Amino acid sequence: MAILNYDNIFELKTKMTSYIIGINEAGGIQNLHWGKQVNPEDCISLLNPRHHSSFDQNVEKEREEYNPWGGLFYGEPSLKAMYADNVRDLKLACSEYSIDRHGNSDQLTITLKDLYYGLQVDLIYRTQDEFDLVERYCRIINNGETPIMLENACSAVWNIPEAEEYRLTHVTGKWACETQLRSCDITEGKKILECRKGSTGSSANPWFAIDNGFANEEAGDVWFGALAWSGNWKITVEKTAFNNVRVVGGINDFDFAWNLKAGETFETPVFVGGYSDGGFGGMSRKLHKYQMACVMPKTHADEIRKVLYNSWEATGFDVNAAEQVLLAQKAAKLGVELFVVDDGWFGSRNSDMAGLGDWYVNTNKFPGGLDPLIKEVNELGMDFGIWVEPEMVNPDSDLYRAHPDWVYSFTNREGSLARNQLVLNLSKNEVKNYILGFMTDLLSQHNIKFIKWDMNRPISEPGWMEAPLECQREIWVRHVQNLYAIWEELRRKFPHVVFESCSGGGGRVDLGILRYADEFWTSDNTDALDRQRIQEGFSYVYCPKAMMCWVTDSPNWLNGRKVSVKYRFVSAMMGSLGIGGNLNEWSEEELNEAEEMVSLYKGIRHTVQDGTLYRLSSPRKGNTVVQYVDNNIQESVVLALGHSQQFGDAPGRTRLRGLDPEKIYSVRIDDEETFSMSGKGLMNIGLFIQLRSDFDSRIIRIK
Ligand code: DGJ
Repeated sequence: MAILNYDNIFELKTKMTSYIIGINEAGGIQNLHWGKQVNPEDCISLLNPRHHSSFDQNVEKEREEYNPWGGLFYGEPSLKAMYADNVRDLKLACSEYSIDRHGNSDQLTITLKDLYYGLQVDLIYRTQDEFDLVERYCRIINNGETPIMLENACSAVWNIPEAEEYRLTHVTGKWACETQLRSCDITEGKKILECRKGSTGSSANPWFAIDNGFANEEAGDVWFGALAWSGNWKITVEKTAFNNVRVVGGINDFDFAWNLKAGETFETPVFVGGYSDGGFGGMSRKLHKYQMACVMPKTHADEIRKVLYNSWEATGFDVNAAEQVLLAQKAAKLGVELFVVDDGWFGSRNSDMAGLGDWYVNTNKFPGGLDPLIKEVNELGMDFGIWVEPEMVNPDSDLYRAHPDWVYSFTNREGSLARNQLVLNLSKNEVKNYILGFMTDLLSQHNIKFIKWDMNRPISEPGWMEAPLECQREIWVRHVQNLYAIWEELRRKFPHVVFESCSGGGGRVDLGILRYADEFWTSDNTDALDRQRIQEGFSYVYCPKAMMCWVTDSPNWLNGRKVSVKYRFVSAMMGSLGIGGNLNEWSEEELNEAEEMVSLYKGIRHTVQDGTLYRLSSPRKGNTVVQYVDNNIQESVVLALGHSQQFGDAPGRTRLRGLDPEKIYSVRIDDEETFSMSGKGLMNIGLFIQLRSDFDSRIIRIK
């Protein structure tokens, strides 16, 4: 039993941690401890209210698990609402609780009820023992007879244990430069990480980590959380004058309002939180294992990701059957297992100006339809995959001409175009059904095993003019709910299909879509050097198996950088490997080298994709060195990428991690002769990893 009740004190116990909360005299749920395991009895005295002055009546309110806005609470609220009689003061108190089992986890539900009105909030906590995580979300229920207007409905408040200093780590970015790590001191006031664009976005990602400024990759206390939502989200990190640090997160309250009718329930997304005493590396490993065991769709979570080829960088919109066959033949020779046709195969899609929305095959490009190509690809021994962007439409398309009212728009306002496209109003059920319909046809009429689902612009002019006034601001949430519903239905109908979430690269990377997607397209930036920082930031939160990485042409189209075939492969081997270059332009020598690299990757990918990741050296400090250890601790792989060696510096010694100290391992660096070393030696003495000159790389296989 992982949840125990000691007379108004609850301990949510995981393998290594205790998360302790208590119900105080006012019926508030107060956080008492989060971190290493302690005796819950020792927390009883913490339930006493701390009075400071008439201006700060009850300091402990700042440490409550859920703060509805009302009374004397002035911090970032987790719930804000207005009753039908215009009362905006929420007074919720704990009325009951229950503890039960939910799948493999224990679940605590604490019910808060308004003292007068029919508003009920169930705070739901689920422990994920193995990974030291607590999943939280809320069910907001209207038990009254009149509607309640929700103006803010967060998933959880995380109270960080007291420290002298606090530091926040998060990621930021932009297109082609996603998941860039940043850290800053947390001082009094608020730091807001958020998305207002309708889809997760690359400028921030719904994840935070907080430490006292001293945690590093392998040591130190880190508290962290990740929100499972792919639309507008907000994570507010707030430090009060009383040295309390609270993190409030969930659906963004910006331009949000939800008309909760009598008898209805609004469910918030899951916000998962955890504690690691093993620094940022420990945090990432817990998050990775959790995703693979509890988040990713079961149908493919345990399967190895196939080596993929995608023609986008090779052909752009200029796809046609004959050239795709040529590329497929070359890809098959390299050992590719999944051949994906990207944008340009449908409607009059010859550029980004037209055709989006017209999901029928362009017969000028594919005279016999898709099937002859699929057959050819299958005969070459590969699965076939295809690109779609279902949430969008070009004004120059049959779909838009037939249904101009299917896009988000405001009366008297022209819609802002981005990449010459508009966003379909997915809040409408007819749009949802249209998407479900053509996707069902596509997947049932052809032997398609992989879908790359793209989204290439944010939502703007978020109007749904026919909807009632009180529902206008619901679109941000309804869009995501319907998106999830479509993916859920497609996954149910086509369990054999692998789904990739893409949004102009890594613009929709989050735990919400990961419940339906098997992997992410990490970034449109495929430069092997730039990728190292993008991939490092990605790996803080998301597992290598979900990180699709392509090897593309050199010089790279984005920045003109030239690096060797091997360097590009080693960078892309850090996740699920793909190839995206124009193979028609690769020399015989390059193709041979690529073939060797693909074969090498197939020998290590079970360790990379399903093993445990240790980041040994950061690209932010110099070279990138990452290590993967398989689950039986029998095998390990180290991938090392140099940037620029200077001053004749000798190779540094890199200590490995996660091995069995007593085992003797055989070590092979690239093609050099194998030598033996004990796990103890590898972890305490380390290996000299020779990275010379510029852009050198090593692949070290350990068995
Ligand atoms: C953006 C994606 O990130 C690319 O990989 C490619 O699929 C293009 N869209 C196609 O339009």
